[in-house]
Amino acid sequence: MRVDGGALLYAVVGNPIKHSLSPVFQNAAFERLGLNALYAPLELPVETFEETLRGLLKVSNFAGCNLTVPFKERVLALGDRLSEEVEKIGSANTLKKTPEGTVELYNTDWLGFLKHFSELTDPKGKKVLVLGAGGTARAVVYALKRAGARVWVWNRTPSKARKLASDFGVAVADRPDPRGFDAVVNTTSVGMRPQDPPLFDYSLIEPGQVVYDVVYEKTPLVEEAKRRGARAENGLKMLLYQGVESFKIWTGLEPPVGELWKLLKE
Ligand code: ATR
Repeated sequence: MRVDGGALLYAVVGNPIKHSLSPVFQNAAFERLGLNALYAPLELPVETFEETLRGLLKVSNFAGCNLTVPFKERVLALGDRLSEEVEKIGSANTLKKTPEGTVELYNTDWLGFLKHFSELTDPKGKKVLVLGAGGTARAVVYALKRAGARVWVWNRTPSKARKLASDFGVAVADRPDPRGFDAVVNTTSVGMRPQDPPLFDYSLIEPGQVVYDVVYEKTPLVEEAKRRGARAENGLKMLLYQGVESFKIWTGLEPPVGELWKLLKE
């Protein structure tokens, strides 16, 4: 399908946005399904995010967007309808503008995480240590709780861990020590920069543990965990799966996930 003047416009909205991988697979999905639609990276100004997005929503062929850092919480003020998960997690990564102009907000991060994590282990009854207490941690904890895991949260700033734990009815861990857990999930940005000091002594990771890092590049945590015989993965597939769920919300169609995964891995 050729993209012509009748195309619907979708986007990923964030700041910065240069490094986003979402346009790669979302555009491939539109093309593969023969949809007259286009997915663009849009770097919105941090100071005037709300008024800029309101303007974008007035563009008649604008049909929806993903939201990324730092707009996932701020977008809530612009929603007409918030999904139950958005209410609980407190952030949205998917906006759909209906043909009537209603702004619907969804969160697909939790489901993207849960789908990928469940490929590594069935979360039900597992003891999971979640590192971090930001927006991503909230989506991860929501997903793990919903799937029946037993969750502990550790955060550098303990007050934030206590707040998250009380919001979701989970426990607080005093230190980031993986021993005794079935799985460890890193939701902090540690590992994105090579100079980051490790979050904990990675030699404490035990064979057979699951180690999940939401960061989507290779990280020292994942590399070291693999060396120690853990089942370790980064968040690249979580990125794909959350995007696939957004795509389904926008179009009602199932994209070719296997093909998109191949493309993304390249
Ligand atoms: P996101 O939406 O990606 O979760 P966020 O809400 O800014 O981003 O949360 C970032 C998380 O990474 C927080 O848990 C933060 O810890 P603090 O609450 O103490 O700030 C954590 N984080 C960031 N840099 C860190 C570091 N160098 N060591 C430990 N934790 C770090």
